[in-house]
Amino acid sequence: MSTTFLLRLGALALCIAALSSLAACSKATDNAPVDTRTSTPEQIARGRYLAKAADCAACHTLAGGAPFAGGVRLGSPFGTFYGTNITPDPKHGIGKWSAAEFYKTLHDGVAPDKQLYPAMPYTSYRTMTRADSDAIYAYLMAQKPAAVPNREADLKFPFNVRFAVMFWNMLFLKDSLPDASVGTSADWTRGKYLANALGHCAECHTPRGVFGQMNGAKALQGSDLGRVVPPDITPAGLVARGWTGADLQTFFATGISRQGPAFGEMHPVVYLSTQYLSPGDLRAMSVYLLGDAPPPPTPVQPGSADAAQVAAGRNTYVALCAGCHGLGGEGKPHVAVSMQGSSTLRQGDPRNLLVAMLDGMDASAFPGTESLQAMPGFAKTLNDEELAQLANYLRSTWGGQPGDVTAAKVKALRDAPSH
Ligand code: HEC
Ligand code: HEC
Ligand code: HEC
Repeated sequence: MSTTFLLRLGALALCIAALSSLAACSKATDNAPVDTRTSTPEQIARGRYLAKAADCAACHTLAGGAPFAGGVRLGSPFGTFYGTNITPDPKHGIGKWSAAEFYKTLHDGVAPDKQLYPAMPYTSYRTMTRADSDAIYAYLMAQKPAAVPNREADLKFPFNVRFAVMFWNMLFLKDSLPDASVGTSADWTRGKYLANALGHCAECHTPRGVFGQMNGAKALQGSDLGRVVPPDITPAGLVARGWTGADLQTFFATGISRQGPAFGEMHPVVYLSTQYLSPGDLRAMSVYLLGDAPPPPTPVQPGSADAAQVAAGRNTYVALCAGCHGLGGEGKPHVAVSMQGSSTLRQGDPRNLLVAMLDGMDASAFPGTESLQAMPGFAKTLNDEELAQLANYLRSTWGGQPGDVTAAKVKALRDAPSH
């Protein structure tokens, strides 16, 4: 008998034990009363704010669907997850849950009837306070019930074995997440709670290991999930791209700062969540990201690049891009963002720049009345060599980066499937 087989047997025995206790749990709660007696209008209002700060809608409200009725599709290397119905509907939603069961779901990833997959970011919500969980519960229980059935996750083996997540939790579920920076101030402490517990920023910005766990040793140093990758947002990473606390506050409040717009998966983070934070909370989150003693932002130094490449890239820029972004890269208010100071050009990894040029960007609405038109994609207009030259021109002129983008790098991204 091989060791693997024995391990599997052991795992099976544990799982059966766990399953029966889970079954017992769900029986006990079947007729539990809805726990709304104690909620006050103030608590519901606070819950509304907290649900925004924690961005529950990003995964639980389908565009055009009923609020919190689920169905949002979440792609991952392990397969597809679906956000669930968290309205008070007694059959499809969480209408029969108690506040304690709700807290256990956020804290441990364990719902009354099942172990959840960590696609639900309980790894971050674990540090949420019981009072805040209760407020979100009160708010959700005050929503309109929606009788929308859930969709089971569609995962590849072995990830479709739901209770195997228990072992994952034993290994990877931690009681706290690493700090983003050094600080002790009241703002820093509040910011830590906003970013780690509520905003679950680490879920996207921290790289993941082979089992999909966050790599705590590289907290917030940028990950490679998705077509547009979340960059390094440690203090060192942020100041290397010119960010100050004031820029971060502008970015989280409006979605557009001197460094450019929020795009890709960051756009909904701003649109659904951070724009609703109070000025004090925005300040706190920015203090937390940069630390109590923020390092000074780095000015852009010209990068070195091959002169012939830069000249060819400049010609393409003038022909295709300058109409919107300006001959001097100065941008046009309400039309196109500036290339000067663009954090996308200042990233060492050219990936987001290349993806922006290949795919273009959808027109997007920003908080308030601001909106930006779509940027066309150039995958069909420009070949790999031309895009590499253009990238090297942009990076060396405005990004302070070396002109090291090759046609092969462009081709790899052109061919990569988008999720
Ligand atoms: C990044 C996406 C994401 C975010 C953000 C998110 N969830 Fe979830 N949630 C999920 C997914 C996916 C599932 C289903 C997981 C599964 O199938 O195991 C889930 C499941 C749940 C469940 C279990 C429902 C059931 O019927 O078993 C509850 C309750 C829940 N989420 C509440 C919340 C609340 C409250 C928030 C905000 C504080 C939130 N979620 C934010 C993705 C998310
Ligand atoms: C769903 C994934 C996701 C989550 C959650 C997320 N981000 Fe992002 N973030 C991204 C992506 C992708 C980008 C790159 C696109 C862009 O710059 O807008 C990004 C960009 C950023 C940038 C701009 C960096 C630069 O130099 O351009 C900042 C700052 C940032 N995120 C902070 C945060 C904070 C703070 C949180 C938590 C409140 C957060 N993010 C949560 C995906 C995410
Ligand atoms: C029709 C006008 C238009 C044209 C032409 C255009 N862009 Fe854009 N570009 C935009 C807009 C609008 C945005 C912001 C889109 C958003 O966030 O929704 C943008 C965003 C970008 C960004 C991201 C900026 C950042 O700071 O993150 C880059 C890089 C970029 N464009 C480069 C180019 C290049 C290179 C070309 C030429 C090959 C080009 N654009 C052509 C309108 C245009």
